[in-house]
Amino acid sequence: MNKHSCICAIGCIIYLVYFLSDIDECAQNTHSCSMTSGVCKNTPGSFRCSCKPGFIGDGHNCEGYINGSNILSKNESYFAYLRGFLVPAVGNNTGWLLCYRASLHGWAGEEFHTRCDGKGNIVTFIQTDQYVFGGYTDIPWGCSPGARTEDQSGRCCIFPFKYKGHTYNQCILGKLFKRWCSFDAVYSRHWAYCDDDPYKGYHTTDKAFIFSLKNKEGLAPFKSMVNHDSQAIYMEISRGPTFGGGHDICIANNAGHNAHSYTNFGHSFLAPSEVKEKITVLAGTHHFTPDEVEVFYLP
Ligand SMILES: *[C@@H]1O[C@H](CO)[C@@H](O)[C@H](O)[C@H]1NC(C)=O
Ligand SMILES: *[C@@H]1O[C@H](CO)[C@@H](O)[C@H](O)[C@H]1NC(C)=O
Ligand SMILES: *[C@@H]1O[C@H](CO)[C@@H](O)[C@H](O)[C@H]1NC(C)=O
Repeated sequence: MNKHSCICAIGCIIYLVYFLSDIDECAQNTHSCSMTSGVCKNTPGSFRCSCKPGFIGDGHNCEGYINGSNILSKNESYFAYLRGFLVPAVGNNTGWLLCYRASLHGWAGEEFHTRCDGKGNIVTFIQTDQYVFGGYTDIPWGCSPGARTEDQSGRCCIFPFKYKGHTYNQCILGKLFKRWCSFDAVYSRHWAYCDDDPYKGYHTTDKAFIFSLKNKEGLAPFKSMVNHDSQAIYMEISRGPTFGGGHDICIANNAGHNAHSYTNFGHSFLAPSEVKEKITVLAGTHHFTPDEVEVFYLP
């Protein structure tokens, strides 16, 4: 044997020993990847962890794309679909936080508004029986409590605002003891009286969409963009999350205890052409009583 083939033979033996001695940690379950939502991939002498589609983390710890959603947790494929729907709207941002959960905070529409208004990038999940659907809006339904005004177009107070050399963090008392605020950080004659019973009506956005994760017609999860932008979302302090002019989705006040909530899908949002019954496809029936409503936002 010459020197070259000798080195080659030794190399082969080392490789063979290494190869034969590799333990498949993934198959033997001796890996440290997340058992519930991780994926283990065997490598020579070791293994690599990653997260299942729709889950986020280093593979050892994986959390659903929207961490802590009880509704989405019911079927892990929901996370992956939802992420696909939301990435075009919000990019890879993943730090969603809960602002409202009906089973935790109660069914009063005003409670939902008090907790979620004033926040941007809001996604709502509705579960009724086995069906799961919801919607996304980049703009809030209303002003955060304290910044609500009687402005006819729903504009909010800006805090802090500067007026005559002073800085204000809340509405200020004006003539006739009525409180008012500025719409600009530095007062420039755009103002309104503050009002706890605020604007009622539509807000315009072309970014809102409705989605279905599990529907009556057994269609694959779908996303449906707004096509009447000027009626994308509807604000009324006593209502739950309401989308569209029909309304495409209406969550009533006290929705968990009545059947006043309904869907009129296809009114302001473009329903997929394969949908047969637009008014029942999302919730199973036209009017419904939700079992749970959850709302998350991006801070
Ligand atoms: C996910 O939620 C759990 C429980 O609510 C919390 O302990 C954990 O810190 C959250 N993870 C992230 C990345 O926010
Ligand atoms: C999201 O992240 C992926 C890879 O991590 C990247 O390829 C993609 O461009 C990102 N998308 C946006 C909208 O930032
Ligand atoms: C999870 O949801 C997907 C999408 O709606 C559906 O195809 C699948 O059958 C569901 N899985 C279970 C176990 O319900």
